[in-house]
Amino acid sequence: MDVKSVGVIGAGQMGNGIAHVFALAGYEVLMTDISHDALEAALRLIDGNLERQVSRDKISEEERAGAMARIRTTMTLADLGATDLVIEAATERETVKTAIFEDLVPHLKPETILTSNTSSISITRLASRTDRPEKFMGFHFMNPVPVMQLVELIRGIATDEDTYRTCVGVVEKLGKTAASAEDFPAFIVNRILMPMINEAVYTLYEGVGSVQSIDSAMKLGTNHPMGPLELADFIGLDTCLAIMNVLHDGLADTKYRPCPLLTKYVEAGWLGRKTQRGFYDYR
Ligand code: CAA
Repeated sequence: MDVKSVGVIGAGQMGNGIAHVFALAGYEVLMTDISHDALEAALRLIDGNLERQVSRDKISEEERAGAMARIRTTMTLADLGATDLVIEAATERETVKTAIFEDLVPHLKPETILTSNTSSISITRLASRTDRPEKFMGFHFMNPVPVMQLVELIRGIATDEDTYRTCVGVVEKLGKTAASAEDFPAFIVNRILMPMINEAVYTLYEGVGSVQSIDSAMKLGTNHPMGPLELADFIGLDTCLAIMNVLHDGLADTKYRPCPLLTKYVEAGWLGRKTQRGFYDYR
């Protein structure tokens, strides 16, 4: 299938980055959100991030303007029915995602490929809540989307070969690299990354090191661009906790139990950069 237009559900951290990279690669993008303010903020952020790429000579001014002109927004989910590929990047809660799919599916063209940017939820289970499990798959970007090279592609049990091949082609056109993962809890990246972040929180909880010493040790000791606690703040502590819970529930192994300190921060509403407070204070 030749994908020309893309629907993006959600204008948050991941959704606006996804709209950015598709528009820059020449796709017509229709982005939707339940909040008008979120759509407006997303357009401003995308423009600012494209501007930054222009100022660093990564793209030309014409490419920036072309990308912005290819992004349209709507608050009506049904408008995405005419697109060739839909990427859902809503909140990482299964009930939210399935409710969106149920509302959207009656409006989709039969050939449209439906995907989710979920970082951990079962693709097979999400697919089963749609009318097209064979045309459904996981299309998982990393944050910040315009910078990170990887897209994890996850096939559900029923995903057909054509759908997978089409998505591999789309990832290539985006100039990114696909890694294929089987449909098990948290796939590859988060299966490995989140237990490391969770262990960093335990290291803090047990008083082995301070926030600064843990991050500095991992940055300087293992050449990670960010320390694990800084990275947790960047991803969002609620997302980190949600992924640990998926691993714990799905793999039934105590090695995945979320650190009580991570739970406490989320309960406090200290979710990281997006709330100005996490392991670091951004106020
Ligand atoms: N849009 C466009 N470009 C951006 C950007 C954005 N949102 N954010 C940063 N950049 C660009 C900058 O322009 C800069 O480009 P050049 O190299 O061409 O100059 C480059 O990225 C580096 O940015 P900065 O110099 O501002 O900052 P930095 O050197 O500290 O790097 C970082 C920032 C890229 C975020 C780096 O710290 C990093 O790689 N951190 C780790 C990120 C990571 O691990 N992400 C994966 C998280 S896991 C995930 O996403 C999966 C999940 O499901 C939870």
